[in-house]
Amino acid sequence: MAGATSSVVPALVICWLSLVILLHRCRICGAVDRERTLAMIKPDGLSGNYTDKIKEAILESGFDIVQETVVLLDAERASLFYAEHAERSFFDSLVKYMTSGPVHAMVLERHDAITHWRALIGPTDARKAKASHPNSIRAMCGLDSEKNCVHGSDSLQSAAREISFFFRDAKSETVEHDEL
Ligand SMILES: *[C@@H]1O[C@H](CO)[C@@H](O)[C@H](O)[C@H]1NC(C)=O
Repeated sequence: MAGATSSVVPALVICWLSLVILLHRCRICGAVDRERTLAMIKPDGLSGNYTDKIKEAILESGFDIVQETVVLLDAERASLFYAEHAERSFFDSLVKYMTSGPVHAMVLERHDAITHWRALIGPTDARKAKASHPNSIRAMCGLDSEKNCVHGSDSLQSAAREISFFFRDAKSETVEHDEL
């Protein structure tokens, strides 16, 4: 009896230790893997009442909506957001469009959030999206390459800049629910 017990106890200890290490590693990789991106529903998305459908698609695709806000950008803020396009011919038209009504900005989080969100929204030109990516969000509610309903950050750097653009005090605030 004593012999049996002395061989079972070390085995149990090893099992228990393995489990603890495994759980610990999972927790670490889960936390490290998560990435954030900025998603924005543009004025035509809001005026066309697509917000609920878009948020449904977001949640079904495994994103958490970490923060959200609805704001009306003025020309100065919209120009700042699209500063990299300032020299382009479409800039004035873009700013006019982006200030034509409120936008709904969201911080989305999941593994590989930037890539997954861009895949979900589809090609920049909504006409192309309708042809080649019929299940994408832009196919659902976009019109062309300007009025394309939604925005997604294109890199880690853009995501960081764009998140802080809309959520300056991101650290201290929880989800905002503006009723616009
Ligand atoms: C969106 O919803 C509002 C309020 O329910 C309604 O007045 C408006 O006509 C809708 N717009 C579209 C494009 O369906």
